[in-house]
Amino acid sequence: MTKWTAADLPELTGRTAVVTGASGGLGLITAGELARAGARVVLAVRTVSRGEQAALAMSGRTEVRQLDVASLESVRRFAGEWTGDIDILINNAGIMQVPLAYTADGLESQAATNYFGPFTLTNLLLPHVTDRVITVSSQLHRRGHVRPGDLNWKARRYHATAAYCDSKLDATVFALELNRRLAASGSPVRSIVAHPGIATTNLTAHVGGVPGLVNRAMRFMVNDAEHGALPILYAASQDIPGGSYVGPDGPGSIKGYPAVRKPSRAASDPDNARVLWDATAELTGTGAQLPAAA
Ligand SMILES: NC(=O)c1ccc[n+]([C@@H]2O[C@H](COP(=O)([O-])OP(=O)(O)OC[C@H]3O[C@@H](n4cnc5c(N)ncnc54)[C@H](OP(=O)(O)O)[C@@H]3O)[C@@H](O)[C@H]2O)c1
Repeated sequence: MTKWTAADLPELTGRTAVVTGASGGLGLITAGELARAGARVVLAVRTVSRGEQAALAMSGRTEVRQLDVASLESVRRFAGEWTGDIDILINNAGIMQVPLAYTADGLESQAATNYFGPFTLTNLLLPHVTDRVITVSSQLHRRGHVRPGDLNWKARRYHATAAYCDSKLDATVFALELNRRLAASGSPVRSIVAHPGIATTNLTAHVGGVPGLVNRAMRFMVNDAEHGALPILYAASQDIPGGSYVGPDGPGSIKGYPAVRKPSRAASDPDNARVLWDATAELTGTGAQLPAAA
């Protein structure tokens, strides 16, 4: 069977894509490929100089805008300044397994970056979105737990890996619930989840405590960054149903080419989703733009 690659991207001229965390790793590759296919790509990045450096190497129409997804103030400013349509919103920015730290909003930093930021950004930009929202998750969402009463690790002993898994599960629950709410409201917009399997990027560069060890030791068993970006590009461009979960087609969905796979049962549970949505809307002060599906 032929494998889908970035060379199979359709012509995207006339479309606008926003990619968060586009200054490095999978976001950089995703943004570059979308621009090459003709889209106008907005690189929404924490450090503008890094975004500009990344954009220099891209062909096509790119723009760099400042966005720190871990800061609700930055997210609100970015969304508030937006005018015009967004065809494809890609919530890609993420951090992994960092020590306990709280943002200026009082949010645990992995939850803030991987979940609260994308939740808020998506809800605020939704009136502009015409086609789809892609949330970049991880197979590690399977090891997460939805704990709406303690999303910020104040009642539990902090564990950096568990906090990453929880944040990715929360983001996946959100993306699937968003799709249900969009469908129930009659919106043509779809919400799709994509994950890269394991890909050698900066995210994994420090895993295990020895810089570069995992990336060097595992490079034959996992995706390189170009292959890791393929599920995101596939989700961003192919005619697949809203609510799909796209990841590598290899064993354990760790490596390979894009295919529609299955998220965990917890991620698909609508009861989990309703409680989580309400708790998150309250914590972030993001009014529910879409009511819960009946
Ligand atoms: N690589 C993997 O194996 C793997 C597996 C599963 C899921 N993922 C997911 O894939 C996504 C991309 O990760 P990656 O592997 O490409 O990691 P990466 O190489 O570390 O890149 C992460 C990107 O996110 C940006 N970022 C981090 N915090 C941000 C913030 N607060 N605001 C805006 N941008 C921020 C970084 O910007 P700076 O340049 O400013 O640091 C960087 O551009 C993440 O959501 C990650 O959880 C990756």
